[in-house]
Amino acid sequence: MNHIHGKTIILGVTGGIAAYKAAALTSKLTQKGAKVHVIMTASAKEFITELTLQSLSKHRVYSDTFQERDPAEISHIDLADAADLVLIAPATANSIAKMALGIGDDMLSTTMLAVTAPVMVAPAMNVHMYQHPAVQANMKTLAGRGIHFIEPGEGLLACGYVGKGRMEEPESIVDVVNSFFADREMAASGPLQGKRVIVTAGGTVERIDPVRYISNDSSGKMGFALARAARAMGADVTLIAARTDAAPPQDPQIELLRVESAAEMFDAVRSRWEDCHVLISAAAVADYRPKQSAENKIKKSGDTLTLELVKTTDILGTLGKIKDRQFVIGFAAETGNAEMYAKDKLVRKNLDLIVANDVREEGAGFGTDTNIVSIYDAQGLVLDLPLSSKDEVARRILLLAAERVAGAAV
Ligand code: CTP
Repeated sequence: MNHIHGKTIILGVTGGIAAYKAAALTSKLTQKGAKVHVIMTASAKEFITELTLQSLSKHRVYSDTFQERDPAEISHIDLADAADLVLIAPATANSIAKMALGIGDDMLSTTMLAVTAPVMVAPAMNVHMYQHPAVQANMKTLAGRGIHFIEPGEGLLACGYVGKGRMEEPESIVDVVNSFFADREMAASGPLQGKRVIVTAGGTVERIDPVRYISNDSSGKMGFALARAARAMGADVTLIAARTDAAPPQDPQIELLRVESAAEMFDAVRSRWEDCHVLISAAAVADYRPKQSAENKIKKSGDTLTLELVKTTDILGTLGKIKDRQFVIGFAAETGNAEMYAKDKLVRKNLDLIVANDVREEGAGFGTDTNIVSIYDAQGLVLDLPLSSKDEVARRILLLAAERVAGAAV
């Protein structure tokens, strides 16, 4: 289905050889019924003419911040306000850096500072430039702010190298844009209306004594993003949070239960389990706790101290095995072999979906605002999400749940 029709799209074209592909992109988006406003950088004009993109979009092309043709208009603000989506294709390393830093020194970068609409970026550059730590760090910053990246493909680059850096083909970009609008429309239609969703978040705290404990690096951000996304889709949400770095969502519509240990988290989840439709276990639950928690602070004595640890209850595993109508989603944060371990957990804990990530990957670890995940069900891979904000990852997980939960309004 065409979800692009009637949308206003700003197409930012920056100066790389892939700028020639902007012509096909403009044409395809326009044919789908989008109103395409092209903004070119000065370097882009070295590769493709304004006239080409003006003829294909049937709209004036912008490139100079100070060339205001209509006295009643301030172009970079009016354009920014009108956009349903901003697409930067191709995006050079320089334009990505300027966005990350908030530099506004030409029409496109100034408009980007005024934009509140969603932004998609299709990078195109030499493979070594793409892998440069500065470029990767800038992309991570932008992804953390909610910018969507359309990953470049691998292949022969204009510079003669073979590798990752080739801008995705216009047809595929149009498909990504179309699914993006489709997802937005579906999420806004409240597909989880009337459904009760439990989300666990954060790292559990297992006490050794009143001032010491065993915990982990979980920040709670992924769980909080899931709670917000579920609420935005109309669900009744209970968020069960252990120790977190980030602040939980301040939404009176989200029931917040604070817990400390795995045992307390288990009790809290059980208290809401019977009438729950979806359980998402994003918490990093300790697998072991001290056998005894000392009543008073442990005083130092010998050269060594041995703590005896005992297993905690596997919350997800226990409930996964007794579930009937509940749709259960687990997480597998791994350091290598993520797919294998995730699939094993899916079967062992009887889950409907598992979200796997390799916490060693740049942008996928604890505490970041971004994640890189693969989602599996019993049949195999369901969805691969490249570097994305945790809000975006959360939305995609909830959309999958909405599609699969019986009776959800989709
Ligand atoms: N989990 C849980 N209760 C526990 C431990 C884990 O509910 N006591 C949940 C987590 O919230 C996560 C999933 O189970 O959704 C996977 O957690 P993990 O600790 O990686 O699973 P384990 O089966 O303990 O595997 P591992 O051998 O890697 O520790």
